[in-house]
Amino acid sequence: MMKEATISTIPTSADGLSRVDGRAKVTGAAKYSAEYKLDGMTYAVLVGSTITNGTIASIDIKAAEKAPGVLAVITYLNAPKVPGHQVAKNPGKPEVKSGPLKVFYDNKIMLNNHPVAMVIADTFERAQYAASLVKATYNKQVHDTKPPKDINKGVAPSDGKDFTRGTADAWQNAPIKLEQEYTLPNEFHNPMELHAIIAKWNSDDKLTIWDKTQGVKATRGDIAKAFNLKEENVQVNSQFVGGAFGSALQVWPHEIAAIIGAKVVMRPVKLVLSRPDMFTSVGYRPYTWQKIGIGATADGKLVGITHEAAGQTSSYEDFSEGPINVSKALYACPNVTTRYKIVSLDVGTPTWMRGPGEATGAFALESALDELSYKLKVDPIELRLINYAKTDPVSGKPFSSKFLDEAYEIGAKQIGWKDRKAEPAQATQNGWLVGYGMGGGMFGAYRDKATVKAIMKADGILTLQTAVSDIGPGTGTAMTLIAAERMGISPDKIKFEMGESSLPDAPMQGGSATTATVGGAVYDACNDLKQKFQKLMGNGGTDKLDYAKILKDNNLPSLDVTVQSSLGSDGQKYSMQSWSVHFTKVLVHPKTGVVKIDKVVCVADSGTIVSPKTARSQIVGGAIGGIGMALMEEGVIDQRYGRYVNNNLADYHVPVNADIPQIEALFVNKPDPHINQMGAKGMGEIALIGMAAAVANAVYNATGKRVRDLPITPDKLI
Ligand code: MOS
Repeated sequence: MMKEATISTIPTSADGLSRVDGRAKVTGAAKYSAEYKLDGMTYAVLVGSTITNGTIASIDIKAAEKAPGVLAVITYLNAPKVPGHQVAKNPGKPEVKSGPLKVFYDNKIMLNNHPVAMVIADTFERAQYAASLVKATYNKQVHDTKPPKDINKGVAPSDGKDFTRGTADAWQNAPIKLEQEYTLPNEFHNPMELHAIIAKWNSDDKLTIWDKTQGVKATRGDIAKAFNLKEENVQVNSQFVGGAFGSALQVWPHEIAAIIGAKVVMRPVKLVLSRPDMFTSVGYRPYTWQKIGIGATADGKLVGITHEAAGQTSSYEDFSEGPINVSKALYACPNVTTRYKIVSLDVGTPTWMRGPGEATGAFALESALDELSYKLKVDPIELRLINYAKTDPVSGKPFSSKFLDEAYEIGAKQIGWKDRKAEPAQATQNGWLVGYGMGGGMFGAYRDKATVKAIMKADGILTLQTAVSDIGPGTGTAMTLIAAERMGISPDKIKFEMGESSLPDAPMQGGSATTATVGGAVYDACNDLKQKFQKLMGNGGTDKLDYAKILKDNNLPSLDVTVQSSLGSDGQKYSMQSWSVHFTKVLVHPKTGVVKIDKVVCVADSGTIVSPKTARSQIVGGAIGGIGMALMEEGVIDQRYGRYVNNNLADYHVPVNADIPQIEALFVNKPDPHINQMGAKGMGEIALIGMAAAVANAVYNATGKRVRDLPITPDKLI
């Protein structure tokens, strides 16, 4: 079937530079947003609505105000106005949604746990107690929190038209075809670190916040706009972020609330969301219904794919993503039709969550392809190779790099694909059913614009500065390695400074773009700095430079450069994508339906791997997220009340160590010659995209039961 693997891959052993901030993190020296201690600190606790749709009829804050230590109780009746909230309504267009939730704005309730009050006290416990004394009554209206079951109820998002390549719905005319529906429940980012902010007004128009955010510059811009401040008067610090997965890509109501509160009490206010609040206040991956029609010739050539999807959004704001995009682009299929709608419910607005859109879509598409492979009696990898896209099927452009075929080959070898039975429910191991499955993923390989300042001081220490955030993938480590290689110095001579809005411009950490973007700028800045040193040495410039000595000889305290760097014209010429394939071996207990993941092999085509150790962690983390998606994660709403019943980490299941076997993370590790000088593409999203299908497909191979509604809980298998 396939040629022999000859590709060298980064081994799974944890070699390479360890995290440069690892020691600070494990010893507690690293400070997260809620951990700063400020003089005169006060503590805010939010009170959420107990209804899901309607208005506040009355709100009694007297008892709370009199409680010990209370400094203020804020509601829509007494909150100072936020200038950015006072935007003109659309009188001519009443159907236009009101936009992001405006906290303490009016008496409307848009979702369960809508913030109706905030108590500020001198201790957290006193604020918590006083919050329990706030009593609200409501005019309740009927709510709708039921997710869509088809596409009919939805509306097309402003950025999403129906798409057709070739003939519409051509799959129906194929000799071999199938049509199936797939659903994915609401999933929550649930990073270890709760969302938290400390807000401090330094004067009437100067604000400093310590905030969990994936983008200090973007947060600065949004907050400056909301409060009508000059950007340079807002300082956003987010030095360490304990995971986010997309939940910290935007400013949420609790951040505005804390800033309002700090203005009222004119003292620093700390607001940390509770774990239950994390289910309603910082977005989530939206419930999405999908239907795939897929058809092929008897020898496995795809004839057509039709992919329909309907995702939920809130009543006040549209959120859309691209679950149908994978069906347009993953395979060379002449006829593709996609339709995507969003459905407004009385819930909070969803947001991007790791592999946003693509992860949802890849579950459906890669499951459908697996189903098709059994109908065709063609090996699932073979089926993918028959329909391998050599150029971008959407734009027609060549790929900047694509080694997905090599990734298939490496992964198949490592998982032991040859042991997979072509028919389901054929193999057992110690009384458990055994199955193998695979699923692939793709995600745009983005490179944005970033500015890096590089400073070499006379002590030989290189400092790199840029305003990127790091939510955990190891940005500082990768940047240090890029700089060490460029400058020809040891990593321990390099300091990477980030997470403050006063530093040079960098985009938010999102879309798997940081290594390509900031790494490209680090590379360029180091090159320029090195040239500056070479110039200083006249024509005696060599490659191995003693920077400290050159500075001393020239009587200079330091040399620095500030360099802005971005993707060149190759961005127009090529389609840039990262690719992945995930393989799983699962064991399913025939009596209890328990699924044990026995082995996982993930292979990524992320271009050059600049930091093997953190790259491995990134893939392992994404794979675990995909296992959670496949087997456990589901936010459950009690439809009678519109309220989540499992809004905590005891009842909202995510994988724990005992659920996860050894995960092999492998890389094709071939440079992308067009994206940046390192040849590095992103990997954060492709680490997860396709994983849920790999598990579902393995479960089918083990049991002959096809579960199309995630998560695959034991009850669905017995
Ligand atoms: Mo990612 S969903 O861009 O944090």
